[in-house]
Parts: sequence; C-alpha cells; structure tokens
Amino acid sequence: MAVEPVVYGASERPPRGDYSRAQSDYTCAQNWSAYTEADHDTYRRLYERQSALLPGLACDAFIDALPSLGVRDRIPRFEEINERLKPATGWEIVAVPGLIPERPFFDLLAHRRFPVTDWIRTPAEFDYIVEPDVFHDLFGHVPLLFNPVFADYVQRYGAGGLKAHDLGAGEWLSRLYWYTIEFGLVRQSDGLRAYGAGILSSSSELRYSVTSPRPRRIALELLRCMRTRYKIDDFQATYFVIDSFAQLFEMTAPDFAPLYEAVRSLGELPADASMPSDSSITLG
Ligand code: PHE
Ligand code: FE
Repeated sequence: MAVEPVVYGASERPPRGDYSRAQSDYTCAQNWSAYTEADHDTYRRLYERQSALLPGLACDAFIDALPSLGVRDRIPRFEEINERLKPATGWEIVAVPGLIPERPFFDLLAHRRFPVTDWIRTPAEFDYIVEPDVFHDLFGHVPLLFNPVFADYVQRYGAGGLKAHDLGAGEWLSRLYWYTIEFGLVRQSDGLRAYGAGILSSSSELRYSVTSPRPRRIALELLRCMRTRYKIDDFQATYFVIDSFAQLFEMTAPDFAPLYEAVRSLGELPADASMPSDSSITLG
C-alpha cells in the first residue's frame, strides 16, 4: 500500500476506497472504465433530481456554472472537465480513492488541484451517504471552481491550511472549510441562497438550510466559526452567511495566527451555540 487510508470523525467503518491505487500525494487515475451502467445511472438520476431543486435555493454563481460540468447522463471523465476548468481558472480536478489526510489535502488545494473521489454510492445510499462520493465532489464542489473569486478563495484556503497544519491549528481551520465550502450560505439581493457543496449535493438539506426556521444563521465571523463544532451525521445546527465571495476572499487575507491563539484561549463552542455577539440573519 502506497498510503494509509484515513478515518474521519467518530466513524467506526473503514473508509471505502481502495488506497492501494493511490500515489504518495494520494491521487490516483480515475478508474473510468470500471464504472458499470448502474453506476452511470445512479449519477444521472442524482444529477437530475438535484438540478431540479436548485432554483430559488442555490446561488446564481452555482446555477450559472453547473453546465460547465458537461455530460449529465453519465459520470464524466475528469479530463473532459479539466479541458474547460484549466483555461477558466487554472484549477484542475484529480482523482482520489476517498477522504485523504489534512496535510496532502491542503497541499493539493494550495496547488489548485481539487481532489475528487472517483467511486459512486450504491442505489441503497441514493438519499444519503456519509462519505463523499463522486457525485458530491463533482456536483457539489466543481461548478464553483469555475468562478474566479471562489476559485481563488479555495486556493488561498489550501495555502492557509498548510500554515495552520504547522501551527497545530488544522482542525480549527477545517471548521472554516466546513462552514463555508461545505455548508455556506450567501445573501443575494433576492434572498438567502446556498453555495456550500454539502448542501448543494443534498436533496433534503438544501431546502432546509435556506428555508427552515429551525437552524441558526449567523453572519460569518472567523473566530466564531473556528470555535464552533459541527455535526457530521445530521443537518447543521448553525449556518454561517456571507454577502459575497469577494467578502469571503478579503476576510481571509490577514494572518490567522492571532486567531488561532484566540481559539486556543477561548475554547470551543457546541454546534448549536448562541452568543450575544452573533449577528443573526432572519428569513426575509
Ligand atoms: N490568511 C490565512 C493565514 O494567514 C490563511 C487562510 C486563507 C485561511 C484563506 C482561510 C482561508 O493563515
Ligand atoms: Fe465536500
């Protein structure tokens, strides 16, 4: 085995991917010819269901970029997507066997290479899957890599991640990934919308995150966000809201070292915490 598989969170299960295929940077070849007709059909049905849910719930930038993924009736070849993605923003997608450890993950992002799991869920997992699969990674993450400002944010995040890792702050910075790139909401002129991949690829949480009165929605504040634990097996208790990708990019330009010191001394918050300083966003 070239690399060790990783287990995230409290999961008892071994990760599903075959890590013996991975190189030392955890990338592998997309095993495209191994997909069965049933695999392509699962992708096609997931794509169809999810794209029908987007209007009024997904942000405009995502809806505009989605067609850039290309074919929707089968699992795309990653090279086909890269032919469009590289000229658009300088990003490329690379296949991985599944979740990879923090350091190589940050390193890929810092080099504008986005890791995409190449296997697809079984039909029994159609509505919910714990680990990211090719549908989550492609449909959820890749469209916004065609957006220049968002693409720059993800690269900056990767570089910041390498630094955070060296400072022992990787877990805290990971919460910023979770609450922006995976579960972020944005205030558009016509209302709240989703831009996070975890929501955009979920048939149930997409509507919940944007319209349910139940969760907390708070204007993104870096320290608050990095102190806040998150749920991996349930809808989020808290969503953090930005006004634009430009705001997100600018907000993350400063040196984070003092923020990590502040997280260290102030400690963590539960996923559903409420703080007097929160700037809560109410549904319009
Ligand atoms: N600017 C941050 C630092 O210096 C890194 C960072 C960039 C973090 C983008 C998150 C997103 O540590
Ligand atoms: Fe993801």
